[in-house]
Amino acid sequence: MLAALAHYYEQSNANVHRGVHTLAEEATAAYEECRRRVASFVNAPEERGVVIVRNATEAINLVARSWGATLAAGDEVLLSEMEHHSNLVPWIMLARERGVVLRHVPITDSGELDMAALGSLLTTRTRIVALTAMSNVLGTINPVAEIAAAAHRVGAVMVVDGAQSVPHLSVDFRSLGIDFLAFSAHKAYGPTGVGFLVARPELLERMEPVAGGGEMIRVVRLDSATWNDIPHKFEAGTPNIADAAAFPAALDLLEELGMGAVREHERELAGYALERLRSLDWLQIHGPLDPERRGALVSFVDPEIHPHDLAQVLDTRGVAVRAGHHCAQPLMRRLNVAATARASFGIYNDRDDVDALVDGLVAARRYFGLV
Ligand SMILES: Cc1ncc(COP(=O)(O)O)c(C=O)c1O
Repeated sequence: MLAALAHYYEQSNANVHRGVHTLAEEATAAYEECRRRVASFVNAPEERGVVIVRNATEAINLVARSWGATLAAGDEVLLSEMEHHSNLVPWIMLARERGVVLRHVPITDSGELDMAALGSLLTTRTRIVALTAMSNVLGTINPVAEIAAAAHRVGAVMVVDGAQSVPHLSVDFRSLGIDFLAFSAHKAYGPTGVGFLVARPELLERMEPVAGGGEMIRVVRLDSATWNDIPHKFEAGTPNIADAAAFPAALDLLEELGMGAVREHERELAGYALERLRSLDWLQIHGPLDPERRGALVSFVDPEIHPHDLAQVLDTRGVAVRAGHHCAQPLMRRLNVAATARASFGIYNDRDDVDALVDGLVAARRYFGLV
């Protein structure tokens, strides 16, 4: 991936879709190759349904602003209590602007969506259902295909926050039957600053662009403009060409391993982590305890040690965990905690890393004089 990034700057550094010279053509080819590879990786309906943006957040904002502009006061958007701020705040902004009503699927005590409640919250007033496919705090894997089918039965579109699912599960846009999928390259072993909105092209056709400028136009006069074809009408200005050109190398890695094998490795590791962490009887673990129902990240709280202190002790032992609200303040309130510590596992982790985490948690108790 780093070599691909350097190669772009060293060999093909030029703007895309503008020049006819060789470098511009090489840059355009590398940029469009990223779109093609992403479409294939998630089995998108068509390449032109892939909009290249900065991150998952920008992708969700694009849907909220553009598809959201088709909503009227009183229309409803259905979210959940386990969403990342990226899939809450754009809808809060929409609600403020248009008088749209936000509803939230509650979670059960085991950290899963309350599907019975979801059934009753989904009504003919619901225009958009926007949910994470995998919680970044609880690890919960949500039944996206089932919910998308239910959303379509009431005439709503299904927006999926795939920031956590795309790098860790095999995500098939078409068989999930969804309408929009947002994710970031940097969580899938790629570079920062590039992400994707994958959409059904017929929906993108009906949407207005949210940013105007170069690249996204067909004809501009002093007082009027017409838009380029999709997906370009959503890609105003010079895009992040270098990082888009580099991302396919990260996809090579994931495709070589196979997403089935990635999931199996992480499921096994999650099972081992849960087993070892549950043996620490003071530790509160959040999220489902069955590794089949969750991804390879575990949030936990030591009731006697603040998560930041815990993270600092672990850091001195070379164990990096995230501590805080994980951009999910409403979920923290639901769990009745100010913050948690969270260990996330990827393709490069193994059981020794879990053991180092567990040893660190015991050491933290000793450090604070609790044992
Ligand atoms: C579930 C989920 N959604 C959205 C995001 C936002 O991703 P980004 O910051 O790359 O836009 C994250 C990142 O932490 C996430 O975990």
